Amino acid sequence: MNNKKSVEEILMKESLNREDVVALLSTDEEDSRIIFAKAAEVKKAFVGNKVYLRGLIEYSNFCSKNCYYCGIRAGNNRYVRYQMTDDEVLEAVKYAYENRFASMVIQSGEKSDRKFIGDIERLLKEIQRLSEGKLHITLSLGEQTKETYKRWFEAGAHRYLLRIEVSNPELYKKLHPNDKHHNYNKRLTSLKTLREVGYQVGTGVMIGLPFQTLDDLADDLIFFRDFDVDMVGMGPYIEHADTPLFRYRNELAPLMERFRLSLKMVAILRIMMKDINIAATTAMQTIDPQGREKALKVGANVIMPNLTPVKYRQNYLLYENKPCIDEEAEDCKNCLDIRIFMAGDEVGYGEWGDSKHFKSRNN
Ligand code: 5AD
Ligand code: SF4
Ligand code: FES
Repeated sequence: MNNKKSVEEILMKESLNREDVVALLSTDEEDSRIIFAKAAEVKKAFVGNKVYLRGLIEYSNFCSKNCYYCGIRAGNNRYVRYQMTDDEVLEAVKYAYENRFASMVIQSGEKSDRKFIGDIERLLKEIQRLSEGKLHITLSLGEQTKETYKRWFEAGAHRYLLRIEVSNPELYKKLHPNDKHHNYNKRLTSLKTLREVGYQVGTGVMIGLPFQTLDDLADDLIFFRDFDVDMVGMGPYIEHADTPLFRYRNELAPLMERFRLSLKMVAILRIMMKDINIAATTAMQTIDPQGREKALKVGANVIMPNLTPVKYRQNYLLYENKPCIDEEAEDCKNCLDIRIFMAGDEVGYGEWGDSKHFKSRNN
């Protein structure tokens, strides 16, 4: 399967099956270049060379869950827990708005108490008012009831990111505690509920986890296609010393290999789902200083500059060596402007950058 011809043959196919995707994921460096070139071509033809910025606010690191891979899991008491004040959020919103980001992501550990739900609702309304409805808001606040999703939708949020993390239910069990709060079917139901409520739905996975195979990763890409998602954010798994999964660190592929696999995942996904939004994730930059630019070159079209106040950033370490811990919003913006330009793209300032896929599905 590894000669050039067969990769080219696979790429000519109308629709890739699991075997095709596994073959593409298994390619060596030389054959990967063929995939990358094809993905770049598809990106140019279907979504163009505009990169959309989503200002990221890491609103709170309180989390009621205990995912085995994540640094801010409830069981880790190394971090000081925080929740940003309304003023801090609105300051970041103002920055995003004035810099014509046109879109923001509010992310946080998972909480579903009444106060938290109300805090988010109030902020959404305030952001709508401040930006005169011009700033698009994406939420990434985990699993919630349909009622909560609806409340937030009505308060002005229109996109939601909820990673499935891994699409294989058996693997999901190995990476999460075995209780009703960490349930694969519940997560899947949440994704469906988000769609029903009317959100543009984004999901994603981690790449290079312990116990994860290439078959699993191929299934992840097929899961995105079957679910017909509008946006995907995925990146390498990076071990964190204060988590239970750290004990498997010696069984992981080397970081560079996880990075290369992540690039291939982005490229193959662009070929499979031509008009969706794909994020160049921060975890990719953690491994390779130019990780996000490399992802843009092989199909990604969204970047999420961090707008969290610097004083909180060292407490929102989902994984180790996270970049931009000391950089203010302005530094990240300038840095990204240059990086995106170097990758041959341009920033879609002042544009919402809705998933074209969402638009065509709803027409
Ligand atoms: N490495 C990489 N990504 C991680 N996430 C959580 N922990 C890690 C880790 N150790 C990702 C999860 C989650 C997102 C917010 O961060 O996919 O959905
Ligand atoms: Fe909480 Fe999300 Fe981390 Fe799981 S991955 S522990 S839900 S912040
Ligand atoms: Fe934060 Fe480059 S994106 S410093």
